[in-house]
Amino acid sequence: MTMFAACNAKLAEPQIVPAPRSLEMGEGALNLKGIAIFCDPAVDSLSRFALDQFSGRLSMVTGKKSYVTTGEPAGKGLCFVKDVSVAPEGYRISVTPASAVVRASDFNGFLYSLQTLRQMLPVSIYGTAPDPGADWRIPCCEIDDAPRFGYRGLMLDCCRHFFSVDEVKKVLDVMAIYKLNRFHWHLTEDQGWRIQIDKYPRLTEVGAWRNGTMVGGDWNSNDGIRYGGYYTKDEVRDIIAYAAERGITIIPEVDLPGHMQAALASYPELGCKGSKPQPYEVWTIWGVSKQVLNVGNEKTMRFLEDVLGEIADLFPGEYIHIGGDECPRDEWKTDPDCQAKIRQLRLKDKDGVSAESRLQNYVTARMQKFLAGKGKKIIGWDEILEGDLAEGATVMSWRGTKGGIKAASMGYDVVMSPTTYCYLDYIQSSDMEKEPFSITHQWETPESVGESAITLEKLYGYEPLKGIPDDAQKHILGVQCNLWTEYIAEPAHLEYMLFPRVMALSEVQWCTPENKDEGRFIESLAEHELPLLDYIGVNYRPLGDL
Ligand code: ACM
Repeated sequence: MTMFAACNAKLAEPQIVPAPRSLEMGEGALNLKGIAIFCDPAVDSLSRFALDQFSGRLSMVTGKKSYVTTGEPAGKGLCFVKDVSVAPEGYRISVTPASAVVRASDFNGFLYSLQTLRQMLPVSIYGTAPDPGADWRIPCCEIDDAPRFGYRGLMLDCCRHFFSVDEVKKVLDVMAIYKLNRFHWHLTEDQGWRIQIDKYPRLTEVGAWRNGTMVGGDWNSNDGIRYGGYYTKDEVRDIIAYAAERGITIIPEVDLPGHMQAALASYPELGCKGSKPQPYEVWTIWGVSKQVLNVGNEKTMRFLEDVLGEIADLFPGEYIHIGGDECPRDEWKTDPDCQAKIRQLRLKDKDGVSAESRLQNYVTARMQKFLAGKGKKIIGWDEILEGDLAEGATVMSWRGTKGGIKAASMGYDVVMSPTTYCYLDYIQSSDMEKEPFSITHQWETPESVGESAITLEKLYGYEPLKGIPDDAQKHILGVQCNLWTEYIAEPAHLEYMLFPRVMALSEVQWCTPENKDEGRFIESLAEHELPLLDYIGVNYRPLGDL
């Protein structure tokens, strides 16, 4: 009698973030402890591997073995079926007291179905410790889910501060739980070059190390501590594979032609100062350096092609990010090579766009063409839109939303990443005293901070298609948040800035506006997501006032 009652009791609605497109609760539940798992032979090998991992973990934590067998579902057990009618990255789950049938058409769809199943189970499913006494039932329900946007990104700056392979993997783990699928990896900067390039060893011998770092917001200070680090190609391959298993494509960024001071410290002949006694150092302060590449020099262009060639060979994704932001052209105005190039290309000050700005267009176009030869597309910060931008480039709108609106209206694909909603280096509340030192502390006062704080709720409320003309909306590939790390040196601080705002981001990226509900979301955070982060040892900013 008790057993019967327990089996038919209506379980609470599971708390799933990002919220599925549709979830209908039924009566009763299915116990996954020791459940037989069937995998349709048409399911691809990567999905099958993910399913094997899931079943291994389920067996370990429940204390009862679940075997995966290839074959026809027999009306019972947990069944995975390939169904080409399911939308890309989408999945359907149908749970009855006898079985759960999961349908997806691709690898990410199967992965996300497993993430959703995990979210319906006790948090111990995320660990390795046996928890046989927990309730391993999932409620009878029908879930039909698919993402709103195909590009669901997060950018991490591993240059201003360097984060280990393990820390990067930890971030990827949490991204995967919340169904993010693009990791934009910022790998080169004025303050440090972070990736091995075989043809230019000095980039990591010299460019990966700086002689100290400014302290807090004091531009005239230096902590005197030599700082640096970089990823070897083997480490990069390891991270690429780790991300791929989690349905995440990596977009590496080589920021050019500005933000290149670490490269200039390594190879001064690539700059506008000649290679007299070392004129450059890996920068020890933050901001935008006026020392940029000499793009009038063919040797510099070969350097860029060599570097991007190695990057394109290493990373399997379709996109390479070529930066393009914040490139002061002061040096180009007087540099003889740059001026000769401007004359040769007959670039003119025209329509409010300087000849020097058009010289950057030339660099962008050349890199785009070079990478197209390697089967890659470029994406760049919205400055690449100034002047002329060749067809086929994708624009990342960061200086507010106007760049994205303009680019989409012109027919370019766009990733929305406006500072006003998507910059996770900004303070999370207006309490400047209690929040850790951030870029906001650098520029704002307690009186001025106001709207510049990017609270969880503010990010949650972001509507990426607002202001985009109807016929241009198809060009909005998706949304990305960025974490710049000038003021973030430690993993715990990094996680504090990321979470739980990344969960809010996941709903902006995944859910249709009708499916978003701030009250339900905050409740899920309090009851499920933050306990989950506690369980897996990830730091976060607590909800509410500090
Ligand atoms: C940027 O924040 N400079 C893209």
